[in-house]
Amino acid sequence: MTDGEEGWKGRSILVTGSSRGIGRAVALELAGRGAHVILHHRANPGAAEGVARAVRELGGTADVVSGDLSDLTEIPSVAREVLRRAPRLSGLVNNAGMYEEASLSKLTPRDWERTISLNLAAPVFLLKALAPRLARQKGAAVVNVSSILGLRSAPGAYAYQASKAAVIHVTRALALELAPRIRVNAIAPGFIRTDMNQDAWTHRSFSRQVIRETPLGRWGEPEDIAAMVRVLLSPDSRFVTGETWLVDGGKGLR
Ligand SMILES: NC(=O)c1ccc[n+]([C@@H]2O[C@H](COP(=O)([O-])OP(=O)(O)OC[C@H]3O[C@@H](n4cnc5c(N)ncnc54)[C@H](OP(=O)(O)O)[C@@H]3O)[C@@H](O)[C@H]2O)c1
Repeated sequence: MTDGEEGWKGRSILVTGSSRGIGRAVALELAGRGAHVILHHRANPGAAEGVARAVRELGGTADVVSGDLSDLTEIPSVAREVLRRAPRLSGLVNNAGMYEEASLSKLTPRDWERTISLNLAAPVFLLKALAPRLARQKGAAVVNVSSILGLRSAPGAYAYQASKAAVIHVTRALALELAPRIRVNAIAPGFIRTDMNQDAWTHRSFSRQVIRETPLGRWGEPEDIAAMVRVLLSPDSRFVTGETWLVDGGKGLR
Protein backbone atom coordinates (compact mmCIF):
# COMPACT_ATOMS: atom_id res chain seq x y z
CA MET A 1 0.00 0.00 0.00
CA THR A 2 1.01 3.60 -0.45
CA ASP A 3 -0.36 6.85 0.92
CA GLY A 4 -2.11 7.37 -2.42
CA GLU A 5 -5.89 7.03 -2.58
CA GLU A 6 -5.77 3.29 -3.35
CA GLY A 7 -4.17 2.73 0.08
CA TRP A 8 -7.13 4.32 1.88
CA LYS A 9 -10.06 2.88 -0.04
CA GLY A 10 -11.63 0.02 1.91
CA ARG A 11 -10.09 1.16 5.20
CA SER A 12 -12.45 1.98 8.08
CA ILE A 13 -11.16 4.27 10.80
CA LEU A 14 -12.77 5.40 14.07
CA VAL A 15 -12.04 8.97 15.17
CA THR A 16 -13.29 9.70 18.69
CA GLY A 17 -14.45 13.25 19.38
CA SER A 18 -14.86 14.04 15.69
CA SER A 19 -17.90 16.31 15.99
CA ARG A 20 -15.58 19.31 16.39
CA GLY A 21 -12.02 20.62 16.40
CA ILE A 22 -9.06 18.36 15.72
CA GLY A 23 -11.17 15.19 15.46
CA ARG A 24 -13.38 16.76 12.80
CA ALA A 25 -10.32 17.79 10.76
CA VAL A 26 -8.83 14.29 11.08
CA ALA A 27 -12.07 12.69 9.89
CA LEU A 28 -12.26 15.01 6.85
CA GLU A 29 -8.59 14.44 6.03
CA LEU A 30 -9.03 10.64 6.05
CA ALA A 31 -12.37 10.70 4.24
CA GLY A 32 -10.87 12.98 1.60
CA ARG A 33 -8.32 10.23 0.87
CA GLY A 34 -11.05 7.59 0.50
CA ALA A 35 -11.26 6.02 3.98
CA HIS A 36 -14.62 5.17 5.53
CA VAL A 37 -14.76 7.15 8.77
CA ILE A 38 -16.65 6.32 11.93
CA LEU A 39 -17.44 9.66 13.52
CA HIS A 40 -17.94 9.82 17.27
CA HIS A 41 -19.39 12.46 19.59
CA ARG A 42 -20.51 12.61 23.20
CA ALA A 43 -23.75 14.61 22.98
CA ASN A 44 -23.61 16.66 19.81
CA PRO A 45 -25.60 14.80 17.12
CA GLY A 46 -26.17 17.96 15.06
CA ALA A 47 -22.46 18.71 14.78
CA ALA A 48 -21.60 15.05 14.04
CA GLU A 49 -24.25 14.94 11.29
CA GLY A 50 -22.75 18.15 9.89
CA VAL A 51 -19.36 16.43 9.68
CA ALA A 52 -20.98 13.39 8.03
CA ARG A 53 -22.50 15.73 5.41
CA ALA A 54 -19.10 17.34 4.82
CA VAL A 55 -17.61 13.85 4.36
CA ARG A 56 -20.27 13.02 1.76
CA GLU A 57 -19.57 16.30 -0.05
CA LEU A 58 -15.98 15.08 -0.36
CA GLY A 59 -17.29 11.90 -1.98
CA GLY A 60 -16.60 9.85 1.16
CA THR A 61 -18.67 7.71 3.51
CA ALA A 62 -19.25 8.03 7.24
CA ASP A 63 -21.16 6.45 10.12
CA VAL A 64 -21.90 8.19 13.41
CA VAL A 65 -21.69 6.69 16.90
CA SER A 66 -22.03 8.37 20.28
CA GLY A 67 -21.10 7.78 23.90
CA ASP A 68 -19.59 9.44 26.96
CA LEU A 69 -16.13 7.87 27.05
CA SER A 70 -15.37 9.29 30.50
CA ASP A 71 -17.77 6.58 31.73
CA LEU A 72 -15.61 3.51 31.18
CA THR A 73 -18.61 1.21 31.54
CA GLU A 74 -19.99 2.67 28.27
CA ILE A 75 -16.92 1.70 26.25
CA PRO A 76 -17.84 -1.92 25.42
CA SER A 77 -21.18 -0.83 23.96
CA VAL A 78 -19.55 1.98 21.95
CA ALA A 79 -17.01 -0.54 20.61
CA ARG A 80 -19.78 -3.02 19.69
CA GLU A 81 -21.62 -0.27 17.80
CA VAL A 82 -18.41 0.69 15.96
CA LEU A 83 -17.74 -2.92 14.91
CA ARG A 84 -21.35 -3.37 13.79
CA ARG A 85 -20.84 -0.42 11.39
CA ALA A 86 -17.23 -1.30 10.48
CA PRO A 87 -16.51 -5.02 10.88
CA ARG A 88 -13.13 -4.57 9.13
CA LEU A 89 -11.95 -1.65 11.26
CA SER A 90 -8.26 -0.97 10.60
CA GLY A 91 -7.59 2.32 12.38
CA LEU A 92 -8.36 4.11 15.64
CA VAL A 93 -7.71 7.75 16.51
CA ASN A 94 -8.14 8.30 20.25
CA ASN A 95 -8.79 12.03 20.06
CA ALA A 96 -11.73 12.84 22.41
CA GLY A 97 -10.46 14.81 25.37
CA MET A 98 -11.23 17.47 27.95
CA TYR A 99 -9.21 20.24 29.59
CA GLU A 100 -9.71 21.46 33.14
CA GLU A 101 -7.91 24.72 33.85
CA ALA A 102 -8.02 24.27 37.67
CA SER A 103 -5.19 25.61 39.81
CA LEU A 104 -4.15 23.44 42.77
CA SER A 105 -6.52 25.20 45.20
CA LYS A 106 -9.52 24.68 42.88
CA LEU A 107 -8.79 21.08 41.89
CA THR A 108 -11.63 18.68 42.79
CA PRO A 109 -11.57 14.87 42.95
CA ARG A 110 -14.44 14.75 40.44
CA ASP A 111 -12.58 16.84 37.84
CA TRP A 112 -9.44 14.79 38.39
CA GLU A 113 -11.28 11.50 37.90
CA ARG A 114 -13.24 12.62 34.82
CA THR A 115 -10.16 14.04 33.11
CA ILE A 116 -8.03 10.98 33.80
CA SER A 117 -10.88 8.67 32.73
CA LEU A 118 -11.53 10.42 29.43
CA ASN A 119 -7.99 11.41 28.42
CA LEU A 120 -6.04 8.39 29.66
CA ALA A 121 -8.21 5.40 30.54
CA ALA A 122 -10.72 5.64 27.66
CA PRO A 123 -8.06 5.32 24.90
CA VAL A 124 -6.68 2.21 26.61
CA PHE A 125 -10.07 0.55 27.21
CA LEU A 126 -11.29 1.40 23.72
CA LEU A 127 -8.17 -0.19 22.27
CA LYS A 128 -8.67 -3.21 24.55
CA ALA A 129 -12.14 -3.66 23.05
CA LEU A 130 -11.07 -3.09 19.44
CA ALA A 131 -7.59 -4.64 19.29
CA PRO A 132 -8.70 -8.22 18.48
CA ARG A 133 -10.54 -6.92 15.40
CA LEU A 134 -7.84 -4.38 14.41
CA ALA A 135 -5.23 -7.15 14.55
CA ARG A 136 -6.98 -8.98 11.71
CA GLN A 137 -6.40 -6.12 9.26
CA LYS A 138 -3.15 -5.57 7.41
CA GLY A 139 -1.62 -2.19 8.27
CA ALA A 140 -3.71 -1.63 11.42
CA ALA A 141 -2.67 1.51 13.29
CA VAL A 142 -3.68 3.59 16.29
CA VAL A 143 -2.95 7.25 17.01
CA ASN A 144 -3.43 8.59 20.54
CA VAL A 145 -3.77 12.35 20.87
CA SER A 146 -1.54 13.63 23.68
CA SER A 147 -0.47 17.29 24.05
CA ILE A 148 2.54 19.56 24.26
CA LEU A 149 1.50 19.66 27.95
CA GLY A 150 2.38 15.97 28.18
CA LEU A 151 5.98 16.92 27.36
CA ARG A 152 6.37 20.46 28.76
CA SER A 153 5.02 21.80 32.07
CA ALA A 154 2.83 24.76 33.03
CA PRO A 155 1.11 25.72 36.28
CA GLY A 156 -2.49 24.44 36.63
CA ALA A 157 -4.46 21.81 34.72
CA TYR A 158 -2.76 19.05 36.72
CA ALA A 159 -5.10 16.23 35.73
CA TYR A 160 -4.78 17.26 32.08
CA GLN A 161 -1.00 17.37 32.18
CA ALA A 162 -0.78 14.05 34.05
CA SER A 163 -3.17 12.38 31.62
CA LYS A 164 -1.33 13.61 28.53
CA ALA A 165 2.11 12.63 29.87
CA ALA A 166 0.76 9.18 30.73
CA VAL A 167 -0.72 8.80 27.23
CA ILE A 168 2.80 9.12 25.82
CA HIS A 169 4.13 6.43 28.13
CA VAL A 170 1.22 4.06 27.65
CA THR A 171 1.53 4.49 23.87
CA ARG A 172 5.03 2.99 24.08
CA ALA A 173 3.87 0.12 26.30
CA LEU A 174 0.90 -0.68 24.04
CA ALA A 175 3.15 -0.54 20.99
CA LEU A 176 5.27 -3.26 22.57
CA GLU A 177 2.31 -5.50 23.37
CA LEU A 178 0.52 -5.09 20.05
CA ALA A 179 3.49 -5.36 17.66
CA PRO A 180 3.80 -6.55 14.99
CA ARG A 181 0.09 -6.58 14.07
CA ILE A 182 -0.90 -3.09 15.27
CA ARG A 183 1.26 0.04 15.33
CA VAL A 184 0.52 2.50 18.16
CA ASN A 185 1.80 6.09 18.05
CA ALA A 186 0.89 9.45 19.54
CA ILE A 187 0.61 13.05 18.38
CA ALA A 188 1.30 15.90 20.79
CA PRO A 189 -0.36 19.06 19.41
CA GLY A 190 0.85 22.49 20.45
CA PHE A 191 -1.57 25.43 20.65
CA ILE A 192 -4.39 24.71 18.19
CA ARG A 193 -7.38 26.97 17.55
CA THR A 194 -10.42 24.93 18.64
CA ASP A 195 -13.35 25.29 21.05
CA MET A 196 -11.21 23.73 23.81
CA ASN A 197 -9.01 26.80 24.16
CA GLN A 198 -11.22 29.47 22.65
CA ASP A 199 -10.67 31.68 25.71
CA ALA A 200 -6.93 31.64 24.96
CA TRP A 201 -6.93 32.38 21.24
CA THR A 202 -9.61 35.05 21.51
CA HIS A 203 -7.66 36.77 24.32
CA ARG A 204 -5.70 39.33 22.34
CA SER A 205 -2.52 39.68 24.44
CA PHE A 206 -2.26 35.97 25.27
CA SER A 207 -2.83 35.08 21.63
CA ARG A 208 -0.05 37.46 20.54
CA GLN A 209 2.27 35.94 23.14
CA VAL A 210 1.63 32.44 21.74
CA ILE A 211 2.46 33.71 18.25
CA ARG A 212 5.66 35.41 19.49
CA GLU A 213 6.76 32.22 21.24
CA THR A 214 6.06 30.00 18.22
CA PRO A 215 9.00 29.94 15.76
CA LEU A 216 6.64 29.27 12.83
CA GLY A 217 4.78 32.44 13.83
CA ARG A 218 1.13 31.46 14.20
CA TRP A 219 -1.43 29.37 16.11
CA GLY A 220 -1.87 25.82 14.90
CA GLU A 221 -5.00 24.85 12.98
CA PRO A 222 -6.80 21.49 13.35
CA GLU A 223 -5.73 20.63 9.78
CA ASP A 224 -2.03 20.86 10.84
CA ILE A 225 -2.63 17.99 13.24
CA ALA A 226 -4.89 16.03 10.88
CA ALA A 227 -2.15 15.84 8.24
CA MET A 228 0.29 14.28 10.73
CA VAL A 229 -2.31 11.84 12.08
CA ARG A 230 -2.92 10.73 8.51
CA VAL A 231 0.80 10.09 8.01
CA LEU A 232 0.99 8.01 11.20
CA LEU A 233 -1.97 5.90 10.07
CA SER A 234 -0.61 5.42 6.59
CA PRO A 235 1.74 2.73 5.26
CA ASP A 236 4.41 5.45 4.91
CA SER A 237 4.85 5.03 8.70
CA ARG A 238 5.02 1.24 8.50
CA PHE A 239 8.30 1.11 10.52
CA VAL A 240 7.23 3.63 13.20
CA THR A 241 5.64 2.49 16.46
CA GLY A 242 5.62 3.73 20.07
CA GLU A 243 6.60 7.25 18.91
CA THR A 244 5.16 10.63 19.86
CA TRP A 245 5.32 13.42 17.30
CA LEU A 246 5.25 16.95 18.69
CA VAL A 247 3.33 19.13 16.19
CA ASP A 248 3.65 22.64 17.61
CA GLY A 249 5.26 25.02 15.11
CA GLY A 250 8.47 24.75 17.16
CA LYS A 251 6.95 26.19 20.35
CA GLY A 252 8.38 23.43 22.51
CA LEU A 253 11.93 24.04 21.25
CA ARG A 254 12.58 26.85 23.73
N1 LIG B 1 -6.80 22.43 21.03
C1 LIG B 1 -5.55 22.34 21.45
O1 LIG B 1 -4.79 23.33 21.51
C2 LIG B 1 -4.99 21.00 21.87
C3 LIG B 1 -3.63 20.95 22.21
C4 LIG B 1 -3.09 19.74 22.59
C5 LIG B 1 -3.88 18.60 22.62
N2 LIG B 1 -5.20 18.69 22.30
C6 LIG B 1 -5.99 17.44 22.37
O2 LIG B 1 -6.62 17.22 21.13
C7 LIG B 1 -7.84 16.49 21.33
C8 LIG B 1 -8.98 17.23 20.64
O3 LIG B 1 -9.06 18.53 21.21
P1 LIG B 1 -9.92 19.71 20.54
O4 LIG B 1 -9.18 20.95 20.86
O5 LIG B 1 -10.28 19.38 19.13
O6 LIG B 1 -11.21 19.65 21.48
P2 LIG B 1 -12.71 20.18 21.28
O7 LIG B 1 -12.81 21.13 20.14
O8 LIG B 1 -13.13 20.63 22.65
O9 LIG B 1 -13.51 18.84 20.89
C9 LIG B 1 -13.59 17.82 21.84
C10 LIG B 1 -14.20 16.58 21.21
O10 LIG B 1 -14.20 15.54 22.21
C11 LIG B 1 -15.53 15.10 22.44
N3 LIG B 1 -15.71 14.82 23.86
C12 LIG B 1 -15.59 15.71 24.89
N4 LIG B 1 -15.88 15.10 26.06
C13 LIG B 1 -16.20 13.80 25.76
C14 LIG B 1 -16.61 12.68 26.52
N5 LIG B 1 -16.78 12.76 27.85
N6 LIG B 1 -16.86 11.51 25.88
C15 LIG B 1 -16.72 11.43 24.54
N7 LIG B 1 -16.33 12.45 23.75
C16 LIG B 1 -16.09 13.62 24.36
C17 LIG B 1 -16.42 16.24 22.00
O11 LIG B 1 -17.72 15.73 21.65
P3 LIG B 1 -19.06 16.69 21.76
O12 LIG B 1 -19.02 17.59 20.56
O13 LIG B 1 -20.19 15.72 21.74
O14 LIG B 1 -18.94 17.44 23.05
C18 LIG B 1 -15.64 16.77 20.79
O15 LIG B 1 -15.91 15.99 19.66
C19 LIG B 1 -8.00 16.38 22.85
O16 LIG B 1 -7.55 15.13 23.30
C20 LIG B 1 -7.11 17.49 23.37
O17 LIG B 1 -6.65 17.25 24.68
C21 LIG B 1 -5.78 19.86 21.92
